[in-house]
Amino acid sequence: MELREVMGRRRSIRFLNPHKPVEPEKVQMMFEASRIASHWGNVQSLRGIAVFRDEAPKEVAEALTSPIAGYQIHLAPVSIVWFLETAAVDVQSDRLRELCKAGALGFGEGKEKAMEEQLFPIFEAIRDSTKAPGLGEVDCGQGIAQATLMAFELGLGTCCLGTPHGEEIRKNLGMPESCRILLIQTVGYPAESPEAGGQRPRLPFENLFHLNGYGNAYPRSQEVVDQLTRDEMFQTPAPLPWREAELEYLQRALDLKGNGLL
Ligand SMILES: Cc1cc2nc3c(=O)[nH]c(=O)nc-3n(C[C@H](O)[C@H](O)[C@H](O)COP(=O)(O)O)c2cc1C
Repeated sequence: MELREVMGRRRSIRFLNPHKPVEPEKVQMMFEASRIASHWGNVQSLRGIAVFRDEAPKEVAEALTSPIAGYQIHLAPVSIVWFLETAAVDVQSDRLRELCKAGALGFGEGKEKAMEEQLFPIFEAIRDSTKAPGLGEVDCGQGIAQATLMAFELGLGTCCLGTPHGEEIRKNLGMPESCRILLIQTVGYPAESPEAGGQRPRLPFENLFHLNGYGNAYPRSQEVVDQLTRDEMFQTPAPLPWREAELEYLQRALDLKGNGLL
């Protein structure tokens, strides 16, 4: 599948086949994809713990909860707890030295000296603030996005789930205090159709993107939209006419109670 189609066809898959196990190698491939994502200052603060539902200690599996559509965690053969290791920035100098040696950062004679004497003090001065929520979350997001696309390419369904129970999960998984839980990502084989009801709604392009200043909508070329539609990045918008029937079927097949929201 071409990249544009992968980006367009990926959906949050809330209905997973609870009985079909996920191959550990496929989870490894998700981790491999996340590892090579871009990240600020080469610090690489994104970390993940894969929890295999049927193998993990009971208290670990039970600690994984999300208040919104949290039933998904019970369905998922695997949940990945993605977290940010704030201590990663403590060794940032080493990582920058590596970048420099690799020829990715700096040029010309004296670049090492400039890095030690000028660049490092800048990072040193902002170290504490870089541990606070912000930039770190952005590069973690990039890694999670790559893992998500890898999973999709491997035929897996995933859904990211926010949780306010980060502290409890952190303790139950035995993680140090320097770790900040980001989200839980369910992983499994989809029980719903690949279309998953069609492409999900988005805000209008014009409301989101600007040109040369705030408030001047970035011009959206219909030709580009048509091209991306031909490339399958844009697909039939949700809901597809049979989606409600599919949802009823899934609820019965998976024996799900309630309305699926909480
Ligand atoms: C950071 C993040 C947190 C999310 N949290 C939840 C959640 O708690 N429960 C849920 O059902 N979906 C959650 N989602 C999935 C979004 O609802 C979903 O991505 C959005 O509706 C767009 O649909 P799509 O991913 O299929 O394009 C989350 C997604 C992200 C990126």
